[in-house]
Amino acid sequence: MITSTTEQLAYEVAPANSPAFPLSQWYVAALSSELKDKPLGRTLLNKPVVLFRTGDGQVAALEDRCCHRALPLSDGTLEATGLRCGYHGLLFNQAGKCVEIPGQNKIPSKAKVPAYHVKERDHIIWIWFGADATTEPDCAPPEYKVHSSGRYVFDGDVYHYDAPYQLIHDNLMDLSHLGYVHLKTIGGNASIHMNAEMKVESEGNTVRVVRHMPNSVPPPTYTAVYPFKGNVDRWQEIEFHVSHLLIWTGAVDVDTDAIDDPERGGFHMRGFHGVTPETDTTSHYFWTMATNPVSDPEAIKAKVIEQTILTFDEDKIIIEAQYKNMCRFGQKPMIDIHVDVGANRARRIIEQLKSS
Ligand code: FES
Ligand SMILES: [Fe+2]
Repeated sequence: MITSTTEQLAYEVAPANSPAFPLSQWYVAALSSELKDKPLGRTLLNKPVVLFRTGDGQVAALEDRCCHRALPLSDGTLEATGLRCGYHGLLFNQAGKCVEIPGQNKIPSKAKVPAYHVKERDHIIWIWFGADATTEPDCAPPEYKVHSSGRYVFDGDVYHYDAPYQLIHDNLMDLSHLGYVHLKTIGGNASIHMNAEMKVESEGNTVRVVRHMPNSVPPPTYTAVYPFKGNVDRWQEIEFHVSHLLIWTGAVDVDTDAIDDPERGGFHMRGFHGVTPETDTTSHYFWTMATNPVSDPEAIKAKVIEQTILTFDEDKIIIEAQYKNMCRFGQKPMIDIHVDVGANRARRIIEQLKSS
């Protein structure tokens, strides 16, 4: 357990019988751009899954194991009506039912593989496992209008982390690290970040952290893509959801638009961060970055994405080094400081959902 004055228990070790993550949630399984003409094998929440599109473009997710001789189905090939195993050619439909056995007329009723709930929405593919195979989703997957509004251009990628998913949550909930980890990109002066006004609010299973940095020097990424006149009023709005975080950062020229006006102008970076456990100790990080280009959308998007990749590479190095050291030292106490409030609230939400 960490020693803390205000927000305790966030790092308390979960009971041995508790799952490593909440199960009844929509998690990101893939970005839409990843699913094209090949099946995609990916372990999600300790389950090996194969994701694919059917001939009409619908997404499907099956257990990644052929029920004949256990070859991964992700080694197979796509056809208009389903996924064909790459060993003896059994063909499976979207629901996991075998619909063809080459050279054999009768298809046994047991010839099927488990199928998972999967839905595509706003360029993101979501999966729901539930506490067991009979649990149905109790809500639709989250929407993300930034991808579909037409106001923004965006791109993204998937990173694999040798670290548990909550270390990525911690990192995204606490952007004070920008002044130390991201000096060359989205950072800037460290003391501005450490002394930013911060407001933390919770509602249900979400936590919102808002940080304002008025009259600050724009960081390198900002000046590379937007014609700021001098100092800027900067904002960071972080919204934690159990399976993903939405982070809206940006800046306007000093004393122009109000930085809490939803219609404010200036330069925006709107990040979608899907954090999906792969196993208890490894994770998938699905990110997209959207921006509002003032000119030449493709060139601005390319520049913002290039800077985002540099930034997220910096985070990956820190988080994996952190986890390696945590393993080396084992369960030693950690302290809390003022920047940890939002991350600790997120940890408590996860703890409650794991045991509910
Ligand atoms: S292992 Fe899949 S068809 Fe034989
Ligand atoms: Fe970071």
